[in-house]
This record gives sequence, C-alpha cells and structure tokens, in this order.
Amino acid sequence: MTGRPILAVLGGPNLNLLGQREPALYGTATLTDLEALCTRVADELGYDIDFRQSNHEGDLVDFVHEIRDTASGLVVNAAAYTHTSIALHDALVTVAAPVIEVHLTNVHAREEFRHVSYVAPIAAAVVAGFGAAGYDFALRHLASLDTHREIHRVHP
Ligand code: DQA
Repeated sequence: MTGRPILAVLGGPNLNLLGQREPALYGTATLTDLEALCTRVADELGYDIDFRQSNHEGDLVDFVHEIRDTASGLVVNAAAYTHTSIALHDALVTVAAPVIEVHLTNVHAREEFRHVSYVAPIAAAVVAGFGAAGYDFALRHLASLDTHREIHRVHP
C-alpha cells in the first residue's frame, strides 16, 4: 500500500485468454501486459491500480461492491457480460466515482448482439476499437475527472 488513490480496472470473461484468443481481433498482448500498461500509466498519473479479471458474473458484481466507495475511477471491460448483465449494470450504478467502458475491439462494427451495452448508460465515456491503448486513454480521462487529484498530489 502506497497510500495513493486507486483507479480500478475490471475485466470480464475470456479476457484471461488475451494473447491466445483470436489474436487477429484482440491483438497479441496478454492480460499481464495489459495490467503492466495500466500500472505504468496510473503510476505516471499518481495512482495505484486495482486490476481484476473474472470469468464469473457474481465475482464481477462483488468486485464492484468492494471498490464502489474507495476507487477514484473505474475502467470496465465487462467483455460478453457488457451485452447481457443487468446485475453488473445495477452494481455499477452504485459506484460513486466515474466509470469508463472500454472494449479492445470496435463492438459496433461486429455482430448485432454486441451493439447492446448494459454498461454504457452509466458510463462517463465509452472507448472501443483502440486495442490496449483504450485503457491508457480511459485512465487518463478518469484522472482528469478526479476533482481531488491535486489534493492527492499535495498529500500523497
Ligand atoms: C470485448 C468485446 C465483447 O463483445 C466481447 O465479448 C469480449 C471482448 C472487447 O474488448 O472488444 O470478450 O469486450
């Protein structure tokens, strides 16, 4: 624990297979690479990262409950649960900090079932189709929205 504020990053099902899973679509970076990128960007911005991934809907809901009062922002790539999970939507509504929805691929250029998002209605922004760079953008935007940021810097 560094005492720095926390940006949380939540990943949904099958993202643990990044690097092996349909690399033509999702790229060759692994989930560990993605965590390293998020940690580096957050560190540069003065935050710690709480990076989680689960293949289970209830775990994702529990994770949201854990960070809902403590994180300064949340990046969520709920993967397939984006398109189906009312439970996750209901959990995300309770998060005090801004939430940004991220997808590695441009979901709007893919199958029609991927055009629906239960996350988007509660998101401050949606980033899709930039690959891993989308996480970088999302974290920087969350930091820019954090009204306590200067206070964190003065009193780390
Ligand atoms: C995804 C897009 C989803 O439709 C899909 O189910 C995923 C990954 C993306 O990052 O592009 O698993 O969220």
